[in-house]
Amino acid sequence: MRVWSLERAFGLDNLELVDRPAIEPGPGQVAVAMTAMSLNFRDLVIVTGGYGPSLKAPLIPLSDGVGVVEAVGPGVSRVAVGDRVCPLFFQNWLAGAPPHDLFRGTLGGPLNGVLAERRVLSADGVAKVPDHLSDAEAACLPCAGLTAWSAIVTEGRVAPGQTVLVQGTGGVALFALQFAKLTGARVIVTSSSDEKLERARALGADETINYRTDPEWDRTAKTLTGGEGIDHVVEVGGAGTLDRALNAVRVGGTVSLIGVLSGGKAEVTLQKILMRQVRVQGITVGSRDGFDAMARALAQGGLHPVVDRTFGFDDVKAAFDHLKSGAHFGKVTVGV
Ligand SMILES: NC(=O)c1ccc[n+]([C@@H]2O[C@H](COP(=O)([O-])OP(=O)(O)OC[C@H]3O[C@@H](n4cnc5c(N)ncnc54)[C@H](OP(=O)(O)O)[C@@H]3O)[C@@H](O)[C@H]2O)c1
Repeated sequence: MRVWSLERAFGLDNLELVDRPAIEPGPGQVAVAMTAMSLNFRDLVIVTGGYGPSLKAPLIPLSDGVGVVEAVGPGVSRVAVGDRVCPLFFQNWLAGAPPHDLFRGTLGGPLNGVLAERRVLSADGVAKVPDHLSDAEAACLPCAGLTAWSAIVTEGRVAPGQTVLVQGTGGVALFALQFAKLTGARVIVTSSSDEKLERARALGADETINYRTDPEWDRTAKTLTGGEGIDHVVEVGGAGTLDRALNAVRVGGTVSLIGVLSGGKAEVTLQKILMRQVRVQGITVGSRDGFDAMARALAQGGLHPVVDRTFGFDDVKAAFDHLKSGAHFGKVTVGV
């Protein structure tokens, strides 16, 4: 079977297509024939060496994908041959609070990821996916989908009629838009592109702001709420956006801290949080229970993740280049 591996070193040029022997699942394990994968911003950082020396080559990248159970080892009853499943981003977080060693269990680094024709995994580390999704759509769920679900539903508890602000039109952001609309919220989307904002409106965005042509988007957002402020900000920009997110949020509102697209170290005026009783909630993907709840909601709501473009398995490097360009709207996927 073929896998893409950072065989000797990190860097996109060092990503090699190599052959590996197919192993059979042992007790408690399943073999999954992968059918599609999706790329996250994190994968780009890992592949290009941005995670530093904590990750070691050889490494198979990518956390997110979907496939069909091809074989099960002794003692497996959760899933059966023929089931369509996603490997979970955190192989070691099934329910409740995250375990203390959470980051030892992530696919695509430090654990080998899903950019492979076949993977053998713990049966506990996979979850069934809704039938109405294509493989490309289902491949977007484990990290991007579940992160947005945790922000809006599990931790965010967004309620009908509340206002949610979503930054950008990337993978996490568009899932957040869709889940927020599912809960009955009013959604404001920001983007650097008017054309992308048009597409966000078609997906249900109630209001849009171009953060390039309107750098004071926090003021504009607040005005759109009659001056009260946003109930829930989905914060993916990081250092370059957090201060404005805190300006935009209402007294007693929530900022879901998810991403660091413009840097991971921010200077924050703490009074904006404590004196206005703002909840700043860190989000780190979610548990298997969260995934199952998200899958039920997707099926019930008939929602389809937004796939920007699908590349062939041999064209993975072009897929990374496309993600890097920032031209995408939603998810960049790879088909096997
Ligand atoms: N905490 C977690 O569990 C978790 C999980 C997944 C992702 N993340 C993080 O969340 C972030 C987004 O990930 P992703 O996979 O959704 O990325 P992505 O698909 O590559 O999305 C990038 C998009 O974000 C928008 N953007 C970029 N810089 C921005 C800024 N300064 N202000 C507002 N929007 C900006 C742009 O949208 P426009 O083109 O529309 O302007 C860009 O296209 C990354 O930092 C990632 O590491 C965290």
